[in-house]
Amino acid sequence: MKSLAIITVLFIYIKYVHMWSYNPICLVTECCNKDHIPGDTDKLIRLLKERVYGQHLVENAVHAIAAHWNPHYKAPKPLVLSFHGWAGSGKNYVSNFIAESLYKYGTKSKFVHLFVGRIHFPVREEFKVYQQQLYSWLKGNMTQCSKQLFIFDEIDKTPPEILNAIKPMIDYKDEVDGVDYTQSIFIFLSNTGSALINEHYEELWNKGYVREDLKLSHFEKLIEKGAFNEDGGFHHSDTIKSNLIDHYIPFLPMQREHVQGCIKDQFKNRNVDFPTDSHTQEVMDIIEWGPDRSKLFSTTGCKRISSKVSLLVAKYYRNKEEL
Ligand SMILES: *[C@@H]1O[C@H](CO)[C@@H](O)[C@H](O)[C@H]1NC(C)=O
Repeated sequence: MKSLAIITVLFIYIKYVHMWSYNPICLVTECCNKDHIPGDTDKLIRLLKERVYGQHLVENAVHAIAAHWNPHYKAPKPLVLSFHGWAGSGKNYVSNFIAESLYKYGTKSKFVHLFVGRIHFPVREEFKVYQQQLYSWLKGNMTQCSKQLFIFDEIDKTPPEILNAIKPMIDYKDEVDGVDYTQSIFIFLSNTGSALINEHYEELWNKGYVREDLKLSHFEKLIEKGAFNEDGGFHHSDTIKSNLIDHYIPFLPMQREHVQGCIKDQFKNRNVDFPTDSHTQEVMDIIEWGPDRSKLFSTTGCKRISSKVSLLVAKYYRNKEEL
């Protein structure tokens, strides 16, 4: 009798006090509700401001996401963002922040999916198998929750047939095969167009443009054209031809000050708030600069910095102990 009373009280508590959740299951497992999918774009803006260097154009992606999930707006199609830039310019880094801000469990959420070209779709001849599998995954997941995040990394190394397979799902359609995809978000990551982005940025920079004043419109057409013509997943893609990508977001090449920012951030992450100049310089020394004519940009962006900093921090603590 007593346990029945406890269960009843617990049930009433869950049902009426915790208005966010009508299902006690959600206390122990991830659910498709506001609590587990907070969609916190303010947090995202904050993370980008604090942790990402030199990529102010990415804020456009956040505004697009906020608008897409605005409860007073019915999106006519899934939101499709395409991130373009050199390795190390922060595309994956930013995607992780997006997952972390929109979902309570971030990249570990069952509503967040990462597909990596060379891992998930390695053999071009097998594209029919991939297409079917992908279709059933997307459909299966969408049936369970409409707010899914699908990230496709290495689009440049993904067979173009894959993009064409998801085209019906990211199109202007209320339903595909009985499933409504309009609330979902797709993010494509690639190096495609990065040579054009870098060249164009260098040109603008030489003309005296201030990086922070540049707008998406300085790059959009350029990326679209580059993506369409370069080999890889976007090559002559129907997705581009039919304008299904809502925003092309360029990740600009990293200059000295941005790399220094990344280095400070990595030290801070390891509880070293004030690295010495010589430590910072030691990390800067491993960076390679290009292109040959100007040596303006880090050719690996902020990649490889993390492991170098780890090494120095270990050294730093050891020296401190010796003191
Ligand atoms: C959801 O997507 C994942 C891949 O991220 C897949 O493994 C899983 O089977 C899908 N779930 C359903 C119900 O289709």
